[in-house]
Amino acid sequence: MHTELCHADDASIRRAAALLRAGELVAFPTETVYGLGADALNGGAAARIFAAKGRPADNPLIAHIAGESDLSGLIAGEPVPCARALMRAFWPGPMTLIFPKSARVPREVTAGLDTVAVRMPSHPVARALISAAQTPIAAPSANRSGRPSPTTAAHVLEDMDGRIPLILDGGPCEVGLESTVVDVTGARPRILRPGGVTREMLEGVVGAVDVDEGVLHQLQAGSQARSPGMKYKHYAPRGEMTIVTGPRAAQEIARLYDAAGGRAAILAFSQADYGARRVYRLKNAPGELFAVLRQLDEDGVETIYAEDVPTNGVGLAVMNRLMRAAAFRVHNAE
Ligand code: TXA
Ligand code: MG
Repeated sequence: MHTELCHADDASIRRAAALLRAGELVAFPTETVYGLGADALNGGAAARIFAAKGRPADNPLIAHIAGESDLSGLIAGEPVPCARALMRAFWPGPMTLIFPKSARVPREVTAGLDTVAVRMPSHPVARALISAAQTPIAAPSANRSGRPSPTTAAHVLEDMDGRIPLILDGGPCEVGLESTVVDVTGARPRILRPGGVTREMLEGVVGAVDVDEGVLHQLQAGSQARSPGMKYKHYAPRGEMTIVTGPRAAQEIARLYDAAGGRAAILAFSQADYGARRVYRLKNAPGELFAVLRQLDEDGVETIYAEDVPTNGVGLAVMNRLMRAAAFRVHNAE
């Protein structure tokens, strides 16, 4: 299959909408990362997403809507008051809510769960596409499973060339990390995946919010993941990453780097001085992280020593992605 990369203008958005209605896949920009879309009410179309990404069948998709009127067809009953408050505060934007699902949502979208994840993106191209398609769009991030999420159309092409007919190019994504996933089906809202809408922002609207154990810790073998996506390694560069923490982290990173054979690199968020060593320094961690993880691959880096970041604000989302990129390898330098 030939994959066309198109500037996202009105004509190409109309074409993309027609492809979606015909059950095909289209990649499109959102404010968080690029999504790989299919008609969310067409189970066969949603199934193609799993094939194109190589995604495990038990990892459910997010349904994207353009307006609140699209919500009633996807969920069972009415949103609870705390969900309403969060929607008012953060939609459209980088927040996904988990609701009890309606019978209309195919099992391919929810991977057999009785809940559905819904998000109203703010990106104008995403919104125009959903409106033109006249159906909610099921979309995971448009990367091959296990690769960092794409924040540019070129990243999508790297992963999806030959697998989908069309990529809408809307430039680089503003947030750079996926949406905050919040489960509002329990007594208290619970963050299943941190993102651009921070815990502090959520708590400013609805009071105390729980952070799921799986956000920063590896799930124990045999335990049930509340968000199936948390089980998987994800976001991983090909090189082996270790996160180095503690008061002596910078010295220890320098020592480990010098001891490593082969092509090593340092992922730095601070201004620590690493001399002439090979350093990838992130000035805007959330926005640049995924692009830098891809760059490490391109540069053939085999061993990566990463600094950690404080887990307040958007730092929680950065650490969540880093921990997965490092397959939870953490080295504490006391
Ligand atoms: O920002 C984003 O959310 C991007 C853009 C394209 O909107 N999408 C995205 O999708 O990151 P994906 O598939 O890569 O991540 C969806 C996450 C997964 O961790 C999945 O397990 C979780 O949401 N999820 C989906 N449905 C769920 C459900 N019913 N219950 C719990 N978790 C769910
Ligand atoms: Mg993803």
